[in-house]
Amino acid sequence: MGLFSKKKHHTAGQVDENRLPRHIAVIMDGNGRWAKRRGLPRTAGHKVGAEVFRKIATYCKELGVEYLTVYAFSTENWKRPADEVNTIMGLLKQYMLEAIDSMERDQIRLRFLGDLSALSPELQELARRTNEISSHIQGFQANVCLNYGGRDELLRAARHFAADCVEGRCRPEELDEERFSGYLFTDGLPDPELIIRTSGEERLSGFLLWQCAYSELYFCDTLWPDFGPEDMDRAIVAYQQRDRRFGGVK
Ligand code: FPP
Repeated sequence: MGLFSKKKHHTAGQVDENRLPRHIAVIMDGNGRWAKRRGLPRTAGHKVGAEVFRKIATYCKELGVEYLTVYAFSTENWKRPADEVNTIMGLLKQYMLEAIDSMERDQIRLRFLGDLSALSPELQELARRTNEISSHIQGFQANVCLNYGGRDELLRAARHFAADCVEGRCRPEELDEERFSGYLFTDGLPDPELIIRTSGEERLSGFLLWQCAYSELYFCDTLWPDFGPEDMDRAIVAYQQRDRRFGGVK
């Protein structure tokens, strides 16, 4: 079975498949608590969490969502114990290796977003190969944010734009929202219409700070390792019931 199997494992329930969000972003939280409740090491939660990401990406693809972006490792997560960081990096490596083998067959684009320069040379090379293969593929795209921080992303964009001005490639008055978006890691992606955070925490923790301006936020108590297609359905149904006005009136 491929990384993203085509097996239909769930019916969409009340989800209106004609009004799906194009882009869903997820803060996959609660792996540590899930493990602790079972008397397991935190790393066990991340292992199950990586499996759940595979299943949810497959489900989003089947449903017809175009982009799924997950927060796998923040710029702050380096503060965690070394064995936990190593386990997460190991899971990412395994995921990249599998993806490199199966993406073309499954027509899945996988991209890694964030400051990848802090990763090991091996992971950087695997991420580079994955991003390169993705550039030749059409269809569903899964984005994994790695060593990502929203403030860091905005600072980089500002620095990059300032450097372009200093070097005469553009003028400050030419900067508009579209152009600024082009300096972000998410260049080319539509903003997420729906951002989900699992495990009962209700904050963004620096995730997609520019891109979330008009996102609908959905928080649920389910811990990420327990998150299934039916939880995704609930989130999408809640999104479809929201009244999105973008600052206007109806
Ligand atoms: C948050 O739970 C989760 C993380 C910081 C890591 C997420 C990483 C993975 C799911 C594995 C690698 C991912 C892929 C895409 C292969 P937490 O540890 O903060 O949980 P807690 O709040 O209960 O302690």
